[in-house]
Amino acid sequence: MHSFHYQNDRLFCEQTDLISAAEEHGTPLYVYSKATVTDHFSRLDSALAQLDHMVCYAVKANSNLAILNLLAKQGSGFDIVSGGELFRVIAGGGDPAMCTFAGVGKTEDEITYALQQGIYSFNVESEAELHYINEIAKKQGKIAPVALRVNPNVDAKTHKYISTGKSENKFGVDFDVIEEIYATAAQQLAHVKLVGLQMHIGSQLTSVGPFIEAVNKVAPLAAKLKKHHGIEFFSVGGGIGIIYQGALDSGNPSWWENKDELATPLTVAAYAGAIVPALRELGLKIIVEPGRYMVGNAGLLITKVLFEKRGQAKTFKVVDAGMNDLIRPALYQGYHDIIPLRKPADEAATEAVDIVGPICETGDFFCQDRPMPALAEGDFIALLSSGAYGFVMASNYNSRPLPAEVLVDGEKLHVIRERQTLEDLIAHEKIPL
Ligand code: LLP
Repeated sequence: MHSFHYQNDRLFCEQTDLISAAEEHGTPLYVYSKATVTDHFSRLDSALAQLDHMVCYAVKANSNLAILNLLAKQGSGFDIVSGGELFRVIAGGGDPAMCTFAGVGKTEDEITYALQQGIYSFNVESEAELHYINEIAKKQGKIAPVALRVNPNVDAKTHKYISTGKSENKFGVDFDVIEEIYATAAQQLAHVKLVGLQMHIGSQLTSVGPFIEAVNKVAPLAAKLKKHHGIEFFSVGGGIGIIYQGALDSGNPSWWENKDELATPLTVAAYAGAIVPALRELGLKIIVEPGRYMVGNAGLLITKVLFEKRGQAKTFKVVDAGMNDLIRPALYQGYHDIIPLRKPADEAATEAVDIVGPICETGDFFCQDRPMPALAEGDFIALLSSGAYGFVMASNYNSRPLPAEVLVDGEKLHVIRERQTLEDLIAHEKIPL
């Protein structure tokens, strides 16, 4: 479910008019739909109903407290990758006992904090880290619950920067040595408890094939570890892909490029249908760690057209959002649909344009040579599917204050993060005397 649609030729999020929202709260502005987030959680949760399961939302996708709170209230657990994310989860009303802690470089402070908070499991990414956690737990007089992250050496067939399950990636421990490490840990590491096994092969997967391949390869290993070490859970990671082209409810406006190449969504029904049968046989608790699926299509970024610049080779529309606000196009050649907040009078009249930000970098563009309807100075446009890995990856580059974030709930709009001020930019800096 995606709650963005045109009503009287104006783009709405649920029952809230986004032109008015942009006028009132300024741009760039991140907008999220509450209904979409809760709907996506429920869909996934129901699709896994046949399994003893826990959904651990990957906080890195969107860590605003309001989003975490929404999911916590629905009963979600959380997949965290830093002490900062754990702090946010707790502040957002989440339960540390439902948190799994991933990441290749956990520090002593982070491990100590997580132990004190009583997290569900450390997802361990190397043998060295396993020993490190054991030592820190010993110092604390605690037993740390751990699961090794297995690298199944499966090609997720996604962008190389978000592919994680091949041997050449830095993540996880090679499949072949897992059993040996569990055996040694069981004998020698008194301050860890082997509670699970984890994997994550990559992000933005748009077909079930790689998930099936990975589950088929790793499930027998999970079964052996259950038998020999009594592990309780198998986490299959995140990675469910979303639509970046053609996600709007109301059908695809005619100015969409590559209309016939719209990616088919990987539905949760297809995802669950593909992996549940093999997982059910294990008799283990199954954890999933979706990030993008939960919030990606639930959010968009509104920006305003500042100027038109007609060069000899190209026409540029300069907007007030930049790569510092949404870095996905610059970093992963990420595609985001771009639509006007006011539906154009003549949808057929398009012109190929580059939509660019104000940052002093050539890579600061949201699209190049894309057919767009007429866009005048002052018009608002929306970059769709920006709810995941959008605001969380924003920076102050070029000393630009971070944008505001709002959460729409029907006709109500809540500011869930205020726009930074110029004072915020320098708040922690000091000039030596
Ligand atoms: N679990 C682990 C261990 C992960 O590393 C990730 C994502 C997830 C779960 C959640 O994956 P998801 O369900 O969101 O695909 N910034 C990039 C995506 C980076 C993903 C990193 N890890 C982007 O904008 O495409």
